[in-house]
Amino acid sequence: MYRIKSQIDVKSESFQANKKAYQQLLETFRERTASVIERGKEKSVIKHKKRGKLLARERIDLLVDQNTPFLELSTLGAYDKYENQFPSAGIITGIGVIQGKESIIIANDATVKGGTYIKETIRKHVRAQEIAMENHLPCVYMVDSGGAFLPDQSHVFPDRFDFGRFFYNQARMSAAGIPQIAIVMGSCTAGGAYVPAMSDETIIVKEQGTIFIGGPPLVKAATGEEVTAEELGGADVHTSISGVADHFAEDDRHALSICRHIFETIEKKEKQKLDSVPVEEPFYDPKELYGIAPVDLKKAVDAREIIARIVDGSRFQEFKARYAPTIITGFAHIMGFPVGIIANNGVLFSETALKGAHFIELCTSRKIPIIFLQNITGFIVGKEYERKGIARDGAKLVHAVANANVPKFTVVIGGSFGAGNYAMAGRAYDPRLLFMWPNAKISVMGGEQASDVLIQVKKDQLALSGKEMPQKDIDQLKKSILDKYEHEGSAYYSTARMWDDGIIDPVDTRKVLAMGIAMSLSKKWEETKYGIFRM
Ligand code: COA
Repeated sequence: MYRIKSQIDVKSESFQANKKAYQQLLETFRERTASVIERGKEKSVIKHKKRGKLLARERIDLLVDQNTPFLELSTLGAYDKYENQFPSAGIITGIGVIQGKESIIIANDATVKGGTYIKETIRKHVRAQEIAMENHLPCVYMVDSGGAFLPDQSHVFPDRFDFGRFFYNQARMSAAGIPQIAIVMGSCTAGGAYVPAMSDETIIVKEQGTIFIGGPPLVKAATGEEVTAEELGGADVHTSISGVADHFAEDDRHALSICRHIFETIEKKEKQKLDSVPVEEPFYDPKELYGIAPVDLKKAVDAREIIARIVDGSRFQEFKARYAPTIITGFAHIMGFPVGIIANNGVLFSETALKGAHFIELCTSRKIPIIFLQNITGFIVGKEYERKGIARDGAKLVHAVANANVPKFTVVIGGSFGAGNYAMAGRAYDPRLLFMWPNAKISVMGGEQASDVLIQVKKDQLALSGKEMPQKDIDQLKKSILDKYEHEGSAYYSTARMWDDGIIDPVDTRKVLAMGIAMSLSKKWEETKYGIFRM
């Protein structure tokens, strides 16, 4: 493959200015991430440690194979919500390697409101299970939770993808041969009791783990019986009397080592074949992404410059390089894995959509995963384009993206607006993983366009009764919409609500995508079958 020839002058004023602005974005990102991870001085953390318990992330570190990374998802879930009382939404989820097998780990953080579940906690838990199902990854549940956060019950209990979905997913996964292992390291109350009870194999920690449908206060209220938590559902009871749990652990470390032994007995399934090559670092330094990444979305960025700093050797086999230049398509390798890349290089036209759809057909017929690099304002508008059938051609791309059965991975590197989001494998198109860069923005359209549309609608309304919209009202409406879109369009707003799987430093993009591809090999990919392409 040819090496991309960068046109960027790293000494130029514009590069340096972008880099400086990006440092600011990174600083904010690192500060916010640290604020949810480094909480050692908090009362609940001190209390947790005094009980001889490890923190959720420490437990994960001990569970995964040494010197292998853990890809944590949605670290900033629930960020800036509930007065920041739920760091990481009170649950740590991610992908780690246990005894050589890519696995999903779901660990309650008991230092956050007793590990109880708010809406975002549920979404993280269910999302992690979805990734497990789609990629056939064994699941480990480290349970340490008071169950539902009771004041928020209407958001956590009744709906299709609420608390009950955990157990449904566990049953379906178990039936599909996806191992379900629970380690009870703390409370497991009410509905929560079903996490270990629905698992294939369960470990429980002495004098820490408890499993019961109703805790001591509820039992007393209901029947008058006085009983301690340990007598009601401690490790001794469940491993020697009830049989609800299978393994008795002396402490957290022991429990984790039992879990690793269980993994020795889990079958290594045949993987999806993907012809990889030796890893080559990018020729152009990935740190240069800071000087190039679109901080100002109004400025055009040549997507090849981004690709050159993500792929192996900065080598790229471009497809249709001379045609429809607002989308860049081509093949490359990421950490040795072959990938097809689709990256925006401007607004989407009819021919752009056709080029994208054609390239997706190549990837699905060659069984190559697709990486979408989103920086898209949307599809072109106007009389000329509607008459040429932009809606029909755009639909072809959306159709190809929706039906492509090779793993898709999406990184929002700039803007993600309107139908462009759909055509570029936004969340609704089930990419296996979707990440945002700290500069990324996502909304139905840009704030400027949204305010212009609303002002025009208002003006037209008033015109019907012969009135005009005063400039003061125009300015006020414009400002309120711009502020709203600025706030709701930010990567932090998105990640707090799990519209993505997390915000990543651009430099980590290679590593994160490679982990995603490695995980996607655990299950054989289905054949792709397209429906009717409207011609
Ligand atoms: N809903 C809402 N808040 C809860 C809660 C619940 N189910 N369980 C605990 N909390 C809150 C506590 O009010 C406390 O909040 P604060 O920090 O603002 O004071 C915080 O979580 C920690 O609880 P605490 O009891 O001090 O911690 P702990 O580690 O000693 O015990 C539990 C944790 C979960 C074992 C214990 O609080 C408990 O048994 N909770 C009730 C569980 C229950 O019955 N759930 C039913 C779910 S359907």
